[in-house]
Amino acid sequence: MTTRPVTTDDAGIPAPSDEHSLSVGPNGPLLLQDHYLIQKMAHFNRERVPERVVHAKGGGAHGILQITEDVSQFTKAGLFQKGAETPLFLRFSTVAGENGSADTARDPRGFAIKFYTEDGNYDIVGNNTPIFFIRDPQKFSDFIHSQKRRADNHLHDHNMQWDFWTLSPESAHQVTFLMTDRGTPASWRHMHGFGSHTFLWYNAAGDKYWVKYHFKTDQGIRNLTASEAQALTATDPDYHTRDLFEAIKRGDHPSWTVNVQIMPFEAAADYRFNPFDLTKVWPHSDYPEITIGRFVLNRNPENYFAEVEQSSFEPANLVPGIGASPDKMLQGRLFSYPDAHRYRIGPNYLQLPINQPRVPVHSYNFDGPMTYRNPQDPVYAPNTAGGPAADPSLYSGEHYHVTGEIIRSAYIKHAEDDDYVQPRALWENVLSETDRAHLVSNIVGHASAPEVTTDMKRRVVAYWNNIHKDLGHGVAQGLGLS
Ligand code: NDP
Ligand code: HEM
Repeated sequence: MTTRPVTTDDAGIPAPSDEHSLSVGPNGPLLLQDHYLIQKMAHFNRERVPERVVHAKGGGAHGILQITEDVSQFTKAGLFQKGAETPLFLRFSTVAGENGSADTARDPRGFAIKFYTEDGNYDIVGNNTPIFFIRDPQKFSDFIHSQKRRADNHLHDHNMQWDFWTLSPESAHQVTFLMTDRGTPASWRHMHGFGSHTFLWYNAAGDKYWVKYHFKTDQGIRNLTASEAQALTATDPDYHTRDLFEAIKRGDHPSWTVNVQIMPFEAAADYRFNPFDLTKVWPHSDYPEITIGRFVLNRNPENYFAEVEQSSFEPANLVPGIGASPDKMLQGRLFSYPDAHRYRIGPNYLQLPINQPRVPVHSYNFDGPMTYRNPQDPVYAPNTAGGPAADPSLYSGEHYHVTGEIIRSAYIKHAEDDDYVQPRALWENVLSETDRAHLVSNIVGHASAPEVTTDMKRRVVAYWNNIHKDLGHGVAQGLGLS
């Protein structure tokens, strides 16, 4: 006979009953002194934290990064030195849907990695696309509002989506990606990840480079057609969450090859595209991808809430050897994420095991709700009591000179900057005939929603005409406007 443990309350006190509340006689009212019942009901009411304001639906897994090539000439970051192995946690997500929405919706996919390095946490909070819809954080909340629900009827509204996109021509590249079948990946295992932004790398001598990350799936790209994705939305809304969990459980560990594009620091100023504009890629003919290693996901979470829901990624977590670039979107994100975590999880979110660095923390921040870490005296700096001291030399390569007038402005255009040239290259040079046909039919399907007005449909056609007349023509035909 197996011996079962005795139920306890959360204070470890043996529980009086798993079935009956304390009452005055079998049929009588309940007593306030039933602490066990009250603790259960009160705790249940506090089981949720606010869902992420974007990327609410997701899943994740633990893994390891292995660096196989020597890139010490470009960065001194410990995690990218040849032979280094770094544990990581990766969370995949959709963007616009609520927690509980369907995994197979047409949407970019979040691809957020936390590396537990020997220099503290390094987070790359990217997507499965190398670009984004906008290039200034001023527009982010408006963009997201247009993709989520209306204020009046709480419904998604494709008219609202196209209104934003057609008034924001910088969205054209990302919307092209989104409307191809890459907007509905077959699984999280069968898509690439990208750091998307340009970041700064600096080596031990202080030489600086700009870098972009590409995580190429070793499983190969696989997508769903629009009708396959819609069918799964109805029959198995947790399809991607299940796929990842089951694959890792059966030992089929997915992996990604880690590639980088590296631009010399000085080349940025007169590169043909603004290298910090998040709506642009760096064409491979200019900056080929270099393989530096690989990571694998090999362990499922044991507690979804503790490890996935409470995981907190922040683009501001940059370790020595890596810095921010002047990409305005990245700059906005450096503020936004830790602010979101303080609201969603609480000010001590970094003390939770999933977010905790795997190195000793010697911070002068302490106390606050749910404190766990033990601060040590002295609790202030500077001090003469032998407390921790910052080491500016670790960041000496990060510095560069910037000057300018304080201004609200678009980026100054580089020689070939244009919102349509790169999506046009995608249409003309990269997409197959089938990809193009699906792109047209996916756009037509999306813009045929009953709430999309005829006037808006005309604007949709004009938007795609800017990229290529064949694309615009196909969309016009599909919408009955040719
Ligand atoms: P390349 O021909 O060197 O690269 C094309 C890129 O597109 C490859 O990374 C390819 O890699 C990817 N690709 C292939 N099929 C699709 C698809 N259906 N949807 C999206 N991406 C696809 O050309 P360039 O570097 O000059 O880029 C041309 C255009 O390709 C760009 O304007 C951009 O739209 C797109 N692209 C470019 C990337 C870059 O970093 N340079 C990255 C991704 C896309 P894979 O099949 O492994 O995804
Ligand atoms: C999540 C803000 C742009 C990828 C979030 C969250 C916020 C946010 C507030 C929720 C965080 C949380 O509660 O845990 C912003 C702002 C942006 C921006 C202000 C632009 C100014 C981007 C871009 C990318 C991106 C460009 C990708 C390249 C992600 C991902 C998540 C996320 C992957 C989910 C992380 C996770 O799995 O927990 N974003 N975002 N975001 N964002 Fe952004």
